[in-house]
Amino acid sequence: MLYNKGIGTLEETVLLKPDLTGDKPPGEKREKILTIAIDGPAGAGKSTISMIISKALNIIYLDTGAMYRAVALKMISKGIDLDDRAGVISALEFTDIQIKYDDDVQRLLLDGEDVTSWLRAPKISEAASKVAEIPEVRIKLVDIQRQIASENSLIMDGRDIGTYVLPDAPLKFFLTASLEERAERRWKETDTKDIDQDYDSIKRSIMERDYNDENRSFSPLKKSEDATLIDTTGKSIEEVSSIILEYIHRYLERRRGD
Ligand code: DC
Repeated sequence: MLYNKGIGTLEETVLLKPDLTGDKPPGEKREKILTIAIDGPAGAGKSTISMIISKALNIIYLDTGAMYRAVALKMISKGIDLDDRAGVISALEFTDIQIKYDDDVQRLLLDGEDVTSWLRAPKISEAASKVAEIPEVRIKLVDIQRQIASENSLIMDGRDIGTYVLPDAPLKFFLTASLEERAERRWKETDTKDIDQDYDSIKRSIMERDYNDENRSFSPLKKSEDATLIDTTGKSIEEVSSIILEYIHRYLERRRGD
């Protein structure tokens, strides 16, 4: 299966590092799966933090935003107007999205082709937010996300992971940060030679995406009631990841004790 992690077998990917598993007898595979949901708006730090946590725990990091971005890329490359829902839905039927891991790094295969490096362009960010409004798109991608989560310990980030994709996840976090700080983080990530990407246009684009993500009718961006809220404004990556790791370790302690 494509979403096996690197060269390891599926069996191995299910396991956490032995010191975390609590040594349940063989056959109790589900018991050993650790599922962590991270949601929040663009620029809140989800992907950086999720990457760090996945490395610390030796579990998969599934970036679900990349899947919406891939659908957007497909529609753009086929010249389909994103406001033409029927057109998007019919192209969706012929769209194959697969996830694989190469040295623990997620790669996205769109119709068999690795498109990972195309997905972060600003045009794709805006288009992804539009295709993400379409329930048929979400249903197709959520199926894949749940399938991967049913077989692997993982940290999954997105907008609706705690509320809709994995409502039973035992660990849920909702990351936020001020709009200014989120825009500044994205601005620092961009190539400063790109004149279209000044701070103000990044801020505007984030505001628009926040609005779309929070106001769509089908599974909008929303904090799940049982998620831990972490405001990352003014906090370093190290601070945020150690807060989250502390929660995870406490949960694993409790689970070991059960
Ligand atoms: O996290 P990101 O910026 O890569 O996500 C791109 C877009 O996809 C974002 O505007 C919202 C949408 N998205 C979503 O609706 N649900 C998810 N689980 C992940 C992303």
